[in-house]
Amino acid sequence: MDVAVIGVGHVGLVTAACLADLGHRVVGLDDDAAKIETLLTGGVPFHEPDLPQLVQEVTDSGALRFTTDLGEALADAEVVFVCVGTPPLPGGGPDLRFVERVGVEVASKVDHELVLVEKSTVPANTGRRLTHVIRREQQARGTQVTNVHVASNPEFLREGAAVHDTLNPDRIVYGTSSDFARDALRRVYAPLVERTGAPVVETDVNTAELIKHASNAFLATRISFINAVANVCDRVGADVEVVAQGMGMDARIGPAFLSAGLGYGGSCFPKDVDAFLHLSRQVGYDFRLLEEVGRINVGQREVVLDKLRDELWHLAGKTITVFGGAFKPGTDDLRESPGLHLARALIDEGATVRVYDPVASDGVRRELPDVAVFTDPLEASTGAHAVVVATDWPEVVDLDLGKLVAALDYPILVDGRNCLDPEAARAAGLRYHAIGRGH
Ligand code: UGA
Repeated sequence: MDVAVIGVGHVGLVTAACLADLGHRVVGLDDDAAKIETLLTGGVPFHEPDLPQLVQEVTDSGALRFTTDLGEALADAEVVFVCVGTPPLPGGGPDLRFVERVGVEVASKVDHELVLVEKSTVPANTGRRLTHVIRREQQARGTQVTNVHVASNPEFLREGAAVHDTLNPDRIVYGTSSDFARDALRRVYAPLVERTGAPVVETDVNTAELIKHASNAFLATRISFINAVANVCDRVGADVEVVAQGMGMDARIGPAFLSAGLGYGGSCFPKDVDAFLHLSRQVGYDFRLLEEVGRINVGQREVVLDKLRDELWHLAGKTITVFGGAFKPGTDDLRESPGLHLARALIDEGATVRVYDPVASDGVRRELPDVAVFTDPLEASTGAHAVVVATDWPEVVDLDLGKLVAALDYPILVDGRNCLDPEAARAAGLRYHAIGRGH
């Protein structure tokens, strides 16, 4: 099939490359000419394992090409995926201006019947609004009013495992409001269903939109739940890692997303929890549980700061090294990074902050010009008064703890990801503090 992908950021580029890998002819479009130039010259503008190789393969074979010209992207497209940004607004909802703009532009340029698919995470009712925008635009221009079918096909990929998740989905979800759109999406995903046997949920547009928000909000709720349990564990001397293990063995609960720590970050969970809460209130339901999920998450930074204060008393004037600028391992994404939030809180308290990150150091420098940034964890720790593990990079998990102790001025470590072995850490001479492991 001929497919266009509008917006080749993280989700868009992964979607475009994977659809090309499935055998479709794909055009990736972006109005950021510099980004398209990078892609045309063989680069990938962000860190994502396996993606550069896949993009190379599918561009070499001619299955994927890039453009900044919407007319060219739409020319033969049967299906157009909308992968533009939906950044958070101060009030909690997402900014859907870019989605609206795509609707207006597509409506004004399209000359044949096609399916316009929301891939970006959007609240329920966005499909309805998009349909309305397209009809309005086409009526104003006197063009045919029924040739754009709006659909929703949320993605469930994790950054750092995006290619794997897209090509090995737990499920494929799409919501449509016409046979034309449903049949087109069936054909888009037929090769993936054949390859993986992934189950498909075919539904209406609002339900598909809601599945995405409900899934992310539920995963975030699990994380905040286990973090709240961890805070009780600390007070009664229990070990949250064993509690999570014991809970996870119940098939109804399952083991995933029960890792306690510094809380969730990234471009999805914080934004989606707020957006789902915002939508619920807009439609007359006060989903206060989600407010608490967000509050617990932000509170985890204070848990770490308290552990540092217990050790160091005043943080002002102390030098503290944060291991991890990216919001999780395997990515250079700094959006809503718990490590960077913590670094800012430490700076506000008067500490001197250093950050170690193996791939995101340039970005950290741009975000926090006042901190010293390192690509070597031992160098980052030399002469520091304490270390906080904010991201469980393999480089941190495998660090020689004897060398770390030798580098630090005081051998204090707060493990905000519970990723080190407490016994090994203490045996190496660290004053080791985890989250919810009974101090
Ligand atoms: C998340 C979802 O996992 C994807 O399914 C979804 O498609 C994506 O959002 C999206 O909406 O686009 P992502 O944000 O890439 O993916 O990252 P996750 O691996 O889910 O981790 C999110 C945050 O939660 C990280 O900061 C991680 O450290 C934290 N986390 C995760 C925990 O604190 N505890 C856990 O048990 C799991």
